[in-house]
Amino acid sequence: MHDVEAVVLVGGKGTRLRPLTLATPKPMLPTAGVPFLAHLLSRIQAAGVRRVVLGTSYLAETFSDAFGSGAQLGLEIEYVVEEHPLGTGGGIRNVAKHLSADNVLVFNGDVLCGTDLGAVVDTHRRTDADVTLHLVRVQDPRAYGCVPTDDSGQVLEFLEKTEDPPTDQINAGCYVFRRSVIESIPEGRPVSVERETFPGLLAAGARVSGHVDNAYWRDMGTPADLIHGSADLVRGVAPSAALAGPVGESLVLEGAEIAQGALVFGGTTVGRGARIGAGARVEGSMVFDGAVIGAGAVVEHSVVGTGSRVEDGASVRDTVIGDRAVVGAHCELRDGVRIWPDVVLPPHGVRFSADV
Ligand code: GDD
Ligand code: MG
Repeated sequence: MHDVEAVVLVGGKGTRLRPLTLATPKPMLPTAGVPFLAHLLSRIQAAGVRRVVLGTSYLAETFSDAFGSGAQLGLEIEYVVEEHPLGTGGGIRNVAKHLSADNVLVFNGDVLCGTDLGAVVDTHRRTDADVTLHLVRVQDPRAYGCVPTDDSGQVLEFLEKTEDPPTDQINAGCYVFRRSVIESIPEGRPVSVERETFPGLLAAGARVSGHVDNAYWRDMGTPADLIHGSADLVRGVAPSAALAGPVGESLVLEGAEIAQGALVFGGTTVGRGARIGAGARVEGSMVFDGAVIGAGAVVEHSVVGTGSRVEDGASVRDTVIGDRAVVGAHCELRDGVRIWPDVVLPPHGVRFSADV
């Protein structure tokens, strides 16, 4: 795969993950001890690709600050910044002059996936396709691009986020493009690859192949998926070569302290310097660096932001807590509550599915 280059789209604002994405772009959120993107980059590297171009826009410098030349990951990484976001198709077009390979792997930067990338490229070559799309089956296809194929695997339609999808087969956010097809995308204006480029290619009679498999797959775009995906990485359910430690019930990073009798399990990550108090129970959660969980507190399927505190006896379920926030003792939060950074909730508060 040295003759294939990769492009990763990481320019989105990650609005569904606010407040976590106010200061950190979605692909850089700490996930099982490393920025999420490190998992994807490690899979690209393991597949034998050497050159990766990142299409950035929102908080662009955070990517180059973290990954630099890419040498530490065994890659050559180049960064191309869109001053104004150009959309997914515009972002791909915008990096064209930095590419030289005949075939280019393009990735959405927020997908956790275990697919065999070499096999996707093989399908592309075997079918002599203009574009090949990695496709997976999901329970509810409405949130994704629905992509029906014929018996030979040719793509018939591309229906982005449709209310009435004809099949449960969806766009997994990984494509192989013939480079000349990238050059045919209009330049200098926003383009959606899903709503404009793919339907346009199909209408023009281009050869668009589908590569369907049943690899692990998850889009990390919502809090529930981010939390679930992170736990899958920690438990070894989702494959990654970039984990910060051995797989197991929990991943406890340097300097973290877990008091005797605390239960930390279900794929929880405990960030650097974080502390879990006596008798606390932390299940399937992301506890970021320096966060503190008090004695007897319960945290389930939640994110506790950097430097935040969940005080003694509080119970937090399916909740996102921004950085440096305080959840007072014996508070009860659940069902999609989001706490904004620096908010201080007094003790004994009760909140269900709201923003605070
Ligand atoms: N460079 C750049 N510029 N990147 C962008 C831009 C932009 O203007 N807008 C979005 N992106 C990046 C995001 O950072 C993300 O990594 C990727 O493109 C996809 O954007 P999302 O906002 O996550 O899209 P989605 O999840 O709603 O839908 C997409 O992914 C699904 C699979 O995960 C679509 O491609 C669907 O068809 C697909 O099923
Ligand atoms: Mg997404």
